[in-house]
Amino acid sequence: MRVKSASFVVSNAKVNDCPKSSLPEFAFIGRSNVGKSSLINMLTDRKQLAKTSGKPGKTQLINHFLINKNWHLVDLPGYGYARVSKKTKKEFQGFITSYFLKRKQLINAFVLIDIRHDPQAIDMEFMEWMGTQQIPFSIIFTKADKMSENKIYPTVSAYLNAMLEGIWAETPTHFITSASSSKGKEEVLEYVESML
Ligand code: GTP
Ligand code: MG
Repeated sequence: MRVKSASFVVSNAKVNDCPKSSLPEFAFIGRSNVGKSSLINMLTDRKQLAKTSGKPGKTQLINHFLINKNWHLVDLPGYGYARVSKKTKKEFQGFITSYFLKRKQLINAFVLIDIRHDPQAIDMEFMEWMGTQQIPFSIIFTKADKMSENKIYPTVSAYLNAMLEGIWAETPTHFITSASSSKGKEEVLEYVESML
């Protein structure tokens, strides 16, 4: 897929206020600072479409972007950001979970995992929750430029094996990406296109 047009639509704190349009939707979720907003900019070839930051907790709302006038891309706040107060954290979790439970337009969620990190409980728990709610998701490993080529395959295999040792009978579709080098861009966009 070629991204011919990409524009910001709206930010919302409540899923009920999100666009009423029935366009198919793809959401990007993962821990704070994992690279959700950077990946969105890489995929759309727009450097500043989604706001990024070196400090975790940058994206705090549900952000809708219209791509090629026929699908919505959604940038979400990170889960598990420890440095905000407990109450704020709970609110994030609340509106993230209600987004996934209520958003009928959602075709697939991309769960982002920093390729350098061993499996973390919070990501595993989030994916298990998605599984029990039957919300389709795939995994995007991010920041592959931070790992030497020869370590990428064994690292990803170890991650997926850890999932198989958990509750999963099969591993989800997964992608290896870098917002800096644009690795994985075509694969992710083709995957989206195949589901439109
Ligand atoms: P929140 O909105 O806070 O949840 O974070 P986010 O997941 O949207 O992360 P963001 O895209 O803002 O990126 C966080 C930091 O990681 C920034 O400093 C980015 O420059 C950096 N980063 C993101 N993707 C990559 C990547 O592929 N490679 C490298 N080297 N750095 C990256
Ligand atoms: Mg962000």
